[in-house]
Amino acid sequence: MAHFKSYEENTRNFNWSIAENELGYKEGGVINIGWYCSDRICEMGKGDKKALIWEGFGGKHKTYTYNDLRLCSNTIGAYLKSLGIQPEDRVCLFMDKIPELYIGFIGVLKIGAIAQPLFSAFGDESLLVRLENAETRAIITQQKHVSKVRKILDKMPYLKHIIVVDHDEKKPLQEREIVFDLEKAAGVEQLEIHPTKKESPSVLHYTSGTTGQPKGVKHVHYSLISQYLTTKWVLDIQDDDIYWCTADPGWVTGTSYGIIGPFAIGATQCVQDLGFSAENWYRFIEKHKITVWYSAPTAIRSLMKAGEEVVKKFNLESLRHLASVGEPLNSEAVIWSEKVFGKPFHDTYWQTETGSIMITNFPGMKIKPGSMGKPFPGITAIVVDPETYEPINETGKIGLIGIKPGWPSMMRTYWNNEETYQKKFKNNWYLPGDRATIDKEGYFWFVGRDDDVINTGGHLVSPFEVESALLEHPAVAESAVVAKPDFVNMEVVKAFVNLKPGFQASKDLDLEIMNFIRKKLSPLAMPQEIEYVDLLPKTRSGKIMRRVLRAKEWNEDPGDVSAMEND
Ligand code: PRX
Repeated sequence: MAHFKSYEENTRNFNWSIAENELGYKEGGVINIGWYCSDRICEMGKGDKKALIWEGFGGKHKTYTYNDLRLCSNTIGAYLKSLGIQPEDRVCLFMDKIPELYIGFIGVLKIGAIAQPLFSAFGDESLLVRLENAETRAIITQQKHVSKVRKILDKMPYLKHIIVVDHDEKKPLQEREIVFDLEKAAGVEQLEIHPTKKESPSVLHYTSGTTGQPKGVKHVHYSLISQYLTTKWVLDIQDDDIYWCTADPGWVTGTSYGIIGPFAIGATQCVQDLGFSAENWYRFIEKHKITVWYSAPTAIRSLMKAGEEVVKKFNLESLRHLASVGEPLNSEAVIWSEKVFGKPFHDTYWQTETGSIMITNFPGMKIKPGSMGKPFPGITAIVVDPETYEPINETGKIGLIGIKPGWPSMMRTYWNNEETYQKKFKNNWYLPGDRATIDKEGYFWFVGRDDDVINTGGHLVSPFEVESALLEHPAVAESAVVAKPDFVNMEVVKAFVNLKPGFQASKDLDLEIMNFIRKKLSPLAMPQEIEYVDLLPKTRSGKIMRRVLRAKEWNEDPGDVSAMEND
């Protein structure tokens, strides 16, 4: 029996107290996500249930029960406390998808500190701006990533501890580096859980915008209420399910639905820290008999590209419910999945700032391929006019998505940037920055973003960040960064570059610039194409008109270009 009965039944008289009651939370009481994700499940008598089944490179594998999760997260929490980490201190988790990342996240929350997960493929520059903004006190990382931290250490006086979880004894430790080996550490049975309240900060996720540096999205422990209920109702995870969320906890899907939601409902989940290949993914599903699978359109399109023959080599009959997030799920992908897996992917729409799923195709609800579905109960979502911010009542008319503020997992602010946070609200609607239409049955259809942010493979990249990094390259005088179409990633980064005198365009220079960005920022931000230009389209006041360049890439109408200087 699905947790979700029907749209009518579940929306009628909906109240978030449904989740509060199931979790035993009372207004004004203590609510600690770390405790809910481990201790509570043990107290419910499920301590021996498998919580995390993990596979890594070189045939490594580990399994943790809920009791192990409780004990190991206690151990990490106690260790951090022994270093002097205080409630609300920011502790960065900078690791690949290894068990210490999942367990460390819970440990950090248990002691009331703020978990700041960062994508481990980030280069030193990406790391620095995020650690600087948060004034991060400690970073938990792996030996292979330590060199990136060392490079920027001088600029971070507040960073007191660099905790290495897999220290290679042949490599001497340097300033502020310490070793923590979870397997060797003595298990801590009793840890005093910090009595965090509803509004106590829990997680700080960084997200990219069109302008300015990345923004730190502040979440609170009460976000659990939304994450718990959406995990049940949308992902439909039942007690005997085996769940696989393919997202990396460096991004919000990997924490909301790769840690908090599944562990808070006591699910068994599988994680693999292996590169992508269709064979490997199907083998993983077959081996662990995965039943609920939460992934992303880019991965689905990569699987489509790998073809149907490879699917036939594996027994994937265990799959029961499929969901997707992060970018538009095109109708072809839904139709393909129905054909090869016998089940459609259910689209889910949300973002770092919303903390949990906002609009979705619920289990059992009629899916219209290409549509994002309907708002979650308790979520009032509409489209508003981009000029007046008044609701658009006409079906099929494009507007900005607007969500009525007040659901439990809504971000509370942007770290040190309340001004930008306030700008996200217009006429009492929270604006995620996306355009959509609503059809006569209330289904939402994604149209596009309302800014220049590039969504590559479900990851947001700020053109501003890439342009700023490009300026640090000796050959670059000026640049404009836009999205260009790509079959698998939907969008990839393209840079238009104006060279300084004395530099010549060449294939070698392309590679040099690409690598420069990959190392400084990340492989996601690396331009896949560089086009050298003598002039960039600008407004008369000197602002680069990315819109014009983007339109060319997509064969679209550039819109109003009357403000352009060099037309
Ligand atoms: O533009 C929307 C797109 O991804 C943005 C959020 O990105 P991020 O904060 O990194 O979070 C990603 C995972 C929750 C949104 O503002 N997006 C997300 N889901 C969808 C989507 N675009 C179309 N369809 C979706 N289902």
